[in-house]
Amino acid sequence: MIARLVLNGRPREVEVRPNQTLLELLRDTLGIFDVKEGCDEGVCGVCTVLLDGRPVSSCLVLAAGLRGRAVVTLRGLERNGGLHPLQEAFVRHGAVQCGFCTPGMLLTTLAFLEREPRPDREAIRAALEGNLCRCTGYTKIVDAVEAYVRGELGHD
Ligand code: FES
Ligand code: FES
Repeated sequence: MIARLVLNGRPREVEVRPNQTLLELLRDTLGIFDVKEGCDEGVCGVCTVLLDGRPVSSCLVLAAGLRGRAVVTLRGLERNGGLHPLQEAFVRHGAVQCGFCTPGMLLTTLAFLEREPRPDREAIRAALEGNLCRCTGYTKIVDAVEAYVRGELGHD
């Protein structure tokens, strides 16, 4: 069967198996490795992508059901070949250690800030609850998001 999606702004039609997940489609079929694979059961958040602007665990989404919906992965955040300002904030605040959770953290954060552009620290923490990080203890990640919200790095 054919899955239709708009991937990082580009319409795609791809042959998929009936039980193939969006995560498998992205990584195994399309080679989009900025989407990470962790628990494979909707718990860790490392496979997060934006589906029509909302963060979802791509390991829980069936590719065959996409029907032309918009999927954004980390590479969809690129600005003229450079880093998104939120990525710069993560780098500057030491919020990226192994980097495994980072794509999901960034996408979840940006979707959250669309809904709530001026959150406090607690709200940021709550928004990122579903994205697990084994490295940083979250403080630096929340610091980075706060800096971005304050516009220290050209937040737009
Ligand atoms: S791999 Fe999808 S939530 Fe963990
Ligand atoms: S930076 Fe390593 S899991 Fe988050």
